[in-house]
Amino acid sequence: MKKCMIIGCGGVASVAIHKCCQNSSVFEGIMIASRTKSKCDALKAKLEGTTDTVIETAQVDADNVDELVSLINSYKPNVVLNLALPYQDLTIMEACLKTKTHYVDTANYEPPDTAKFEYKWQWAYKEKFERAGITALLGCGFDPGVTGVFSAYALKHHFDEINYIDILDCNGGDHGYPFATNFNPEINIREVSAKGSFIENGKWVETEPMEIKRTYNFKGVGEKDMYLLHHEELESLALNIKGIKRIRFFMTFGQSYLTHLKCLENVGMTSIKPIMYEGKEIVPLQFLKAVLPDPATLGPRTVGKTNIGCIFRGKKDGKDKNYYLYNICDHQECYKEVGSQAVSYTTGVPAMIGAMMILTDKWNKSGVYNVEEFDPDPFMEELNRWGLPWNEDFDPVLVD
Ligand SMILES: NC(=O)c1ccc[n+]([C@@H]2O[C@H](COP(=O)([O-])OP(=O)(O)OC[C@H]3O[C@@H](n4cnc5c(N)ncnc54)[C@H](OP(=O)(O)O)[C@@H]3O)[C@@H](O)[C@H]2O)c1
Repeated sequence: MKKCMIIGCGGVASVAIHKCCQNSSVFEGIMIASRTKSKCDALKAKLEGTTDTVIETAQVDADNVDELVSLINSYKPNVVLNLALPYQDLTIMEACLKTKTHYVDTANYEPPDTAKFEYKWQWAYKEKFERAGITALLGCGFDPGVTGVFSAYALKHHFDEINYIDILDCNGGDHGYPFATNFNPEINIREVSAKGSFIENGKWVETEPMEIKRTYNFKGVGEKDMYLLHHEELESLALNIKGIKRIRFFMTFGQSYLTHLKCLENVGMTSIKPIMYEGKEIVPLQFLKAVLPDPATLGPRTVGKTNIGCIFRGKKDGKDKNYYLYNICDHQECYKEVGSQAVSYTTGVPAMIGAMMILTDKWNKSGVYNVEEFDPDPFMEELNRWGLPWNEDFDPVLVD
């Protein structure tokens, strides 16, 4: 029996779990293991009777390697899908190594006390995973994740070399709140309040937060302002895609989001430095998370679409070529299908497909890899099948 242990039971995990249960011939058994077991039990109760997948649940503290090891040893999954938070990546990888179990995640490790994410901590496990004969598949959400698969696909089928990549992440959804984040507020605010950066000629170029702004007309959504952000896949794509001269990442934000964020920053609410409050140490950003809407509750109220994709510029047979690969996803369609908005959906579906690639042996190399290091074709097929069909444009409007 092929079994997957899913760690975490939040917005993204809920979608991945629904999708595993739709895909019972691959996911014959799943264990939902998270900090708050009642959430795992509630999801199991909702899905049981609708699926042939056998669902088990457990409580686990994923910061604790020993607890993880004993749970993995008792359930014996073929793969662990980490959909907790980036802070847990290294403990879960350590437990996978100790139990010789494959590992998949969607976000790279970030130390809780420094808002800086990079791959060095996880890439350092490469030889250990090789020696153990197991795979770690890193960053298998949409961005990172599908953006890497798109890049590998573009290089395989359309280019001899890719010189420029612009990743455009547009959320045209409206949840009706003046301010809310579409995934974990703490992780989201750490990401968007950090300095921006991009890679040019092999070097990182740093910008002030939100310093570079462009406007783009997105198919299915319309014209939106987008801002250059630092993003984790820039680091791996610059190494893995042949010919890269520049790679940038843009995300759209509405004016209300930016005005609230600026105000929260100005009053110190986005700080991750602990402060004393009534004799107790608290982290302002974690307190802010507690008062903001839970992203998992945005599903019923979010309308509109997302459009996420990559514009590639490079050379084919000595000639310049441009190519845009993107997916459009509708918030309400996602809600009808799995009870979540499109930001969780566009992350949870690729996470399920990544675990599926490992369970079905379509992707099998021992070591620690980013998604673009595997054959993109089987993954691209599954995207069409599992709810994230992709579109191509051979004459896209470019970003200056
Ligand atoms: N690549 C992409 O495209 C992409 C896009 C969006 C998000 N992400 C990533 O997806 C991941 C999940 O995001 P989300 O929005 O689903 O977050 P979320 O709703 O906050 O869910 C996180 C889950 O992890 C559980 N958890 C946290 N710490 C834990 C611990 N020590 N032990 C066990 N479980 C723990 C939480 O438990 P409780 O229920 O007890 O809080 C919660 O169920 C994050 O790493 C995020 O960065 C990736």
